[in-house]
Amino acid sequence: MELKIELDIYEGRNGLPEVDRTLLEAAEKALENAYAPYSNYSVGAALLLEGGRIVIGNNQENAAYPSGLCAERVALFAAGAQFPKEKIERIAIATRSGVTDGNPAAPCGSCRQVLVEYEARQVAPIRIIMGGSEERVIVAASASDLMPLCFTWNVLKKH
Ligand code: THU
Repeated sequence: MELKIELDIYEGRNGLPEVDRTLLEAAEKALENAYAPYSNYSVGAALLLEGGRIVIGNNQENAAYPSGLCAERVALFAAGAQFPKEKIERIAIATRSGVTDGNPAAPCGSCRQVLVEYEARQVAPIRIIMGGSEERVIVAASASDLMPLCFTWNVLKKH
């Protein structure tokens, strides 16, 4: 078996659909309120819900390190807690420049696992826009593209 994933790579934001660009800007703004005194690595996330609502998150760290949480899950759980009936259309993720090689950061495995389950729950894909102050923006059409064969893959609803 061969697994293939397709990603859209944008060199700069000009070609990026406006809705993605706006969401990325919201993620960059969210990044400013990250609480990351231990890693000094700030991440912002912004979700666009069907109907147009934007829910943001940023990483929240703690002196007891594992107690902290990634930006993506802060945003996803906030949406799940407050607006469980509104589908999540897309998520933009932004990191600060200087910590990568020109490529934007991608969500960690735990956040991907949460993303795929939220996709299955709403039976609709969540588009993932990875960017930040880097020129390059990478877009995946669905969270499941970033995590084939995830835990519970065989029982999750297909969108
Ligand atoms: N972090 C995120 O917010 N999102 C990710 O996808 C990976 C990592 C945070 C967690 C921690 O606060 C900091 O970045 C360093 O790992």
